[in-house]
Amino acid sequence: MSEEIKISPSILSADFSKLGEEITSLDHAGADYIHVDVMDGHFVPNITMGPEIIRKLRPYTKKVFDVHLMISPVDKYIKDFANAGADIITFHPEATEDTSNTIKLIKSYSKKVGISLKPKSEIDLIVDHLSSIDLILIMSVEPGFGGQKFMPEVLPKLEELKNIISKKNFNIDLEIDGGINFDNCNKAKKAGANILVSGSTIFKENNGNLKKNIDLLRSK
Ligand code: DX5
Ligand code: ZN
Repeated sequence: MSEEIKISPSILSADFSKLGEEITSLDHAGADYIHVDVMDGHFVPNITMGPEIIRKLRPYTKKVFDVHLMISPVDKYIKDFANAGADIITFHPEATEDTSNTIKLIKSYSKKVGISLKPKSEIDLIVDHLSSIDLILIMSVEPGFGGQKFMPEVLPKLEELKNIISKKNFNIDLEIDGGINFDNCNKAKKAGANILVSGSTIFKENNGNLKKNIDLLRSK
């Protein structure tokens, strides 16, 4: 895991009527990744976008597509998201019957594997898989909607994972997602996060000045 902080803006807060342009703007504003929240109205109580939209958005940037799947069952859609141009595919362990198998499936398309833990999901769900994944996404809100309040109670879980990863020398990125703003971003970094997801802060603060907001989240 690199110590450099990466910013992964969530297009959940973008204007859906011009997503292509929004992605190009994020690219020019210095985003490291593009965070794509996929929701199915079943695993979470909201519906967003599927692989066809991702495929259409792919030509708008060369940046990493950081695809967060909040869908269940997840396995049967991995192929479609991989072929649509996802670079990192992150799933929730509760959305599969066999976590090892889902990891293998994602790897079979040469994509990076992420596992996401909801605020109440325990580390036990992933400890056996640390040698075979690239990223852990810690949710700091209940998945489903942008603009929710950050839950500081997830920070000890982040710290614990950071310790385990450092001790065992695993090469795993730690990403935090939900309610990240200019006040709490530093706490998240100190707890061990090296990738920050942000939707509302990046799109809404400072009159939507994407570059300023990305720079502030990175440097604060
Ligand atoms: C929530 C999503 C997030 C989130 C980010 O289910 O995974 O990516 O909406 O948006 P903000 O930064 O507005 O919480
Ligand atoms: Zn997300």
